[in-house]
Amino acid sequence: MSKAQATSADSAPSHNQLDTKAQAWSALFSEPMSDLVKRYTSSVFFDKRLWQADIAGSLAHAEMLAAQGIIGAEDYASIQRGMAQITSEIESGAFEWRLDLEDVHLNIEARLTQLVGDAGKRLHTGRSRNDQVATDVRLWLRGEIDLIGDLLKELQVSLVDVAEQNVEVILPGFTHLQVAQPVSFGHHMLAYVEMFKRDAERMADVRRRTNVLPLGSAALAGTTYPLDRERVAKTLGMVDANGSPVVCQNSLDAVSDRDFAIEFTAAASLCMVHVSRLSEELIIWMSQNFGFIKIADRFTTGSSIMPQKKNPDVPELARGKTGRVVGHLMGLITLMKGQPLAYNKDNQEDKEPLFDTVDTLKDTLRIFAEMVGGQLNPATGKKEGGITVNAQAMEQAALKGYATATDLADYLVKKGLPFRDAHETVAHAVKAATTHACDLSELPLTVLQGFHPAIEKDVYECLSLRGSLNARNTLGGTAPAQVRAQLARHRARLA
Ligand code: ARG
Repeated sequence: MSKAQATSADSAPSHNQLDTKAQAWSALFSEPMSDLVKRYTSSVFFDKRLWQADIAGSLAHAEMLAAQGIIGAEDYASIQRGMAQITSEIESGAFEWRLDLEDVHLNIEARLTQLVGDAGKRLHTGRSRNDQVATDVRLWLRGEIDLIGDLLKELQVSLVDVAEQNVEVILPGFTHLQVAQPVSFGHHMLAYVEMFKRDAERMADVRRRTNVLPLGSAALAGTTYPLDRERVAKTLGMVDANGSPVVCQNSLDAVSDRDFAIEFTAAASLCMVHVSRLSEELIIWMSQNFGFIKIADRFTTGSSIMPQKKNPDVPELARGKTGRVVGHLMGLITLMKGQPLAYNKDNQEDKEPLFDTVDTLKDTLRIFAEMVGGQLNPATGKKEGGITVNAQAMEQAALKGYATATDLADYLVKKGLPFRDAHETVAHAVKAATTHACDLSELPLTVLQGFHPAIEKDVYECLSLRGSLNARNTLGGTAPAQVRAQLARHRARLA
């Protein structure tokens, strides 16, 4: 034991227990924590970001304690005053976060007691850090989910903007990354809008199960004080759609449940997977071999050795960060698997993965909304600097892979052939076109008629990219009329 530790452990216990925690928890402990253990068990350097939620939760708890006559009105007033002071200290950076006070909860409570004395010590009546931390994380995450909802909306608007400008632009649609059928670039963009719409719905759903109050469950079994938990829930906005308070109904579950964090991270992972798929496409599209799009220079970087390079670092990083977020999901879900009821210190490990998931997702959504849709130029009132589309390169590529072969088969079916026979006939036509190194639409009528006599002059209409596109006019199809209908639906929804 170091000299300093020996001295502090020997010193007489002060009446401020939290202050002496640096030496030992209470009179029960015969020796202080080693510095290594203090560092190992402390969470303040990451959980201090919960401070606003912690103060909000404490104030709601104190207000209820006073309303129930468990603490005096003067105590509540002192707690309010102390918390106001602490808020300004934290905001100004003057607050001294102490590692030896372990976490955000004990740091704030210790400072409160320093500022307002006994009233500060009464705050923890009928409460434990177990229900406190569960409440704080839920409150904090609720706010973040709302911000993520806004960002998801912004990204959807960006994609809708690009879709709207490119309804008539045709690119090859792929299956197996082989040219399949022509599709509208607007249609392609709207596929991602559907994904992010589902992500927003999932987030809203997770929010419902996050916005439930654990406070009042105390350490694990409830408390002997006559708490009004529903009052606290109302104060904290933990209410359902009808404004009724929503409170965790089992104290053991309340303090130990982290489903909401796992669900959130799962929803975030899936959202990142969508971003990652989009990233993969952007990377492919902007490669020299495709040349379909460009992204603004500020989202790319050069090479330290190859002067000609412009690398798509942002989409690549997003693809990489998706792995990181999925890793957090694995971390959180594994964190829970062996825990007996109720609270265990394992749960302190929920924070870093959760925080990093939120940070990564928010940054990614923000940057993608701008990279895809551009930035608002206040002078023109228009967005500028989003992705640039090379319509000609896209169409050229669509002309290369016999993208209208299915249309020829459908044409023959309309002339009375069974689909399987039509499929076979077209395969022969494609083979001939390959031999002549031309597109189907470039084969002379007589040659086409050689494959089947039912073929007439009007066949060229369906062999054109535009004819093929217009023909896919079923709900959800790529025909411009359908794409415009979807655009209108999304615009109304996102307004
Ligand atoms: N810092 C702790 C956490 O994040 C707070 C709860 C600690 N409770 C306890 N009984 N040690 O989970």
